[in-house]
Amino acid sequence: MTAHANAGANGRYAQITGWGSCVPDKVLTNEALASIVDTTDEWIVSRTGIRERHVVAGERETTATLAARAGRDALLVAGLPPAELDLVIVATATPEYAFPSTASLIQDALGASSAGAFDLSAGCSGFIYGLSMASAAVQSGSADHVLVIGAETLSRITDWTDRNTCVLFGDGAGAVIVSACTERCGVLATELGSDGSGGDLLILPAGGSRRPASLETVSNGGHYLKMNGREVFRFATTVMPRAAESVTRKAGWEIADVSLVIPHQANVRIIESAAKRLNVPLDRFFVNVDRYGNTSAASIPIALTEAVAQGRLHPGDKLVLVGFGAGLTWAGAAVEWGMPPPATTRTSLRRFLARLGILLAGNRSWLRQSERHVYNWIMGPVGKEDWRGRLRQRVDAWRDRTRRRLAGRK
Ligand code: COA
Repeated sequence: MTAHANAGANGRYAQITGWGSCVPDKVLTNEALASIVDTTDEWIVSRTGIRERHVVAGERETTATLAARAGRDALLVAGLPPAELDLVIVATATPEYAFPSTASLIQDALGASSAGAFDLSAGCSGFIYGLSMASAAVQSGSADHVLVIGAETLSRITDWTDRNTCVLFGDGAGAVIVSACTERCGVLATELGSDGSGGDLLILPAGGSRRPASLETVSNGGHYLKMNGREVFRFATTVMPRAAESVTRKAGWEIADVSLVIPHQANVRIIESAAKRLNVPLDRFFVNVDRYGNTSAASIPIALTEAVAQGRLHPGDKLVLVGFGAGLTWAGAAVEWGMPPPATTRTSLRRFLARLGILLAGNRSWLRQSERHVYNWIMGPVGKEDWRGRLRQRVDAWRDRTRRRLAGRK
C-alpha cells in the first residue's frame, strides 16, 4: 500500500525539522547477560552483532519518560514551541498503560496544548507507520507540525530466563518533528505492509482482552514476549530489501542514488543480507545494533539521530528508512534530507520559546489537575438539585459560552 502518493500535491511537503533520542543510563553487556542465562558473548556477537544494550532501572524510568526526553530534544532542534504541535503520535509495543495512550501523557508532559494524540501499534515498523501518518497529515494540510516518537521498554516484557529472546532487546526512544514546507524535500514516499497470518511468530500472548491477566497467565509467563526467531529471520530477510526497493521506486529514485539506508536494528546479519540483495555496499547502511540491541519502534529514530550527529546526512541526500516487526508488518520511507534553515535571531528566540513551553508544561498540568479538584470540591457530585447543582449548571454554561466565543475568534 502507498500511504501517500500525493506528496506535494497541495504544494506542501513534509520535512523532518527536528530529531532527538534517549536511552537509559544502565548498560547491560553480553558478559553480564552470560552470568544470568546460558549464553556467551561469542554466540551473541556472531549470531546478532549485539555487544550491549541499555535497559531501564527502577520504576522512575518508563516508556513515557524516555519518550518525553526524546520529544523534548526534537522540539529544541526544530525550535518549535510545543503549543504549535498539531499531533503527537507514539509508536510503541510497550505503552505506559493500555489506556490512556502514552501519546496523551507526552502531549501533557511537553505542554502540547493544541495537539491531538494517539498511540500506534505496528511492532518494530511502528515508527515508519507513524512517520507515514504524520507526513500524510502535513501534506494534506490537516496539520502543520507533528511529533512522531518510537519508544520502548522491552526489558519489562522480556523473560530474562529465555536465552532465545533476552539477548536481543533493549530500551530507548527516538523522535522527529515533521513540519510543512513548500520546497520538494522530506518524506516523498512510504510503503506499509502487513501479513497477520504470521501474528503468532512474535507475540505478547497475555494481558490483552483475549487473555486478560490472571494467576494462570502470570504463572505461565504469558506476559513475556514469545518469538519464533528462525521464521522471523526468514521473513525479515525477504521483506527488508523488497520494501526498500519498492519505496525507492515510488520516490522516483534508483537504489544506486540512495546515500544512506537506515534499517531497523534487529540483527546485523539481517542488515548484511538486505545490503547483499539490494546490491548496495554495507557502508551505506547505518548500523548501531551493537550498542543498543533491538529497541523495536525506537531503533530507526535513534539511528537517525546518531546519523545526523555523526555528520552522515547532508542537505539533498536521499535517505531510505526500512523496518519489519510484529504483526507481521513491514514499512519503508523515502526521505530527501532537507536544507537546514539558516540560524537567525528568530531561530534562537523560537528555541527559547520551545524551552520555556516545555519548562512550563509541568505547571500547566498541575494547574489543570488542581482546577479539576477544586471545581469538583466546590460543586459537589453531578446531578444534585441543591444550590451547588444549580451553581455547577451556571458555571458549565458560562464555560461553554466562553469556549465557543474563543473558538469563533480563532
Ligand atoms: N546463547 C546460546 N545459544 C543460543 C542462544 C543464546 N542466547 N539462543 C539460542 N541458542 C541456541 C538455540 O537453542 C539453538 O540450539 P539447538 O540447535 O541446540 O536447538 C542454537 O542456538 C541455534 O539456534 P538458531 O535459532 O538456529 O540460531 P540462529 O542462527 O537462527 O539465530 C536468532 C537466532 C534469534 C538470533 C535469529 O534467528 C534472529 O535474529 N531472528 C530474528 C529475530 C528478530 O529480529 N526479532 C525481532 C523482530 S522485530
